[in-house]
Amino acid sequence: MYYIAGMKNWRRERNHYYLEAKKRGIRSRAYFKIEDMDKRFNIFAPGDIVIDIGAAPGGWLQYISKVIGLDGLVIGVDIKEIEEFTDKYNIVTIKGDIFSEETLKKIKDKLMGRKADVIVSDASPNITGVYEIDSMKIYEINKRVMHIAKKFLKRNGILVLKTFQGREEQRVRRMLMKKFKFIKIYKPKASRKRSSEIYYIGFYFLPKSSRTSKTT
Ligand SMILES: C[S@@+](CC[C@H](N)C(=O)[O-])C[C@H]1O[C@@H](n2cnc3c(N)ncnc32)[C@H](O)[C@@H]1O
Repeated sequence: MYYIAGMKNWRRERNHYYLEAKKRGIRSRAYFKIEDMDKRFNIFAPGDIVIDIGAAPGGWLQYISKVIGLDGLVIGVDIKEIEEFTDKYNIVTIKGDIFSEETLKKIKDKLMGRKADVIVSDASPNITGVYEIDSMKIYEINKRVMHIAKKFLKRNGILVLKTFQGREEQRVRRMLMKKFKFIKIYKPKASRKRSSEIYYIGFYFLPKSSRTSKTT
């Protein structure tokens, strides 16, 4: 009984965002997650330079492009091809694995000597369903995103990082606490309740220091 009721809720939840995205020409329901986080935490500003890691098919890119405006730039990176945005002049994309040095070199080239105001990562591994493996894989991605932040994020910049609740989460939290003045943890409304995904948002990046910050 409970299982069926849960399924119904899940379907309703899924359909609402799916239909809304379809109606508005939005590439993925993930759009509503970043919109929710931005409305709550004021992540983006007009003119920002943003790196979007794990950007395909491009829902976050659509939202970020809108809020940073034409003076801003968002660089979308994904191992998969991101279909071109023919009508958005502030989006550039890179097809590449974030674990490859060549991809980091491409990001550097697109930044043209500048640093990013915000780095967002919705990157997630292919889910195997084996808890230990999936936790380990997302933790490896999270560490790599942190490495990218150390290279390309501005002092006082913001990092939005998807991780999974559970096993490795405390390590992710500690990793961020060393490099950001404070951290928020948030599960957007559009995130499926039964999914373990959760977002860590680090504010005020401290490039050189190693400290312990506040989490709320
Ligand atoms: C949940 S999807 C992102 C959805 C996206 N935020 C949107 O709004 O459409 C996760 C993405 O992470 C990407 N990804 C996973 N591992 C990656 C890696 N090592 N390098 C680059 N992209 C990766 C996947 O290819 C996938 O497209």
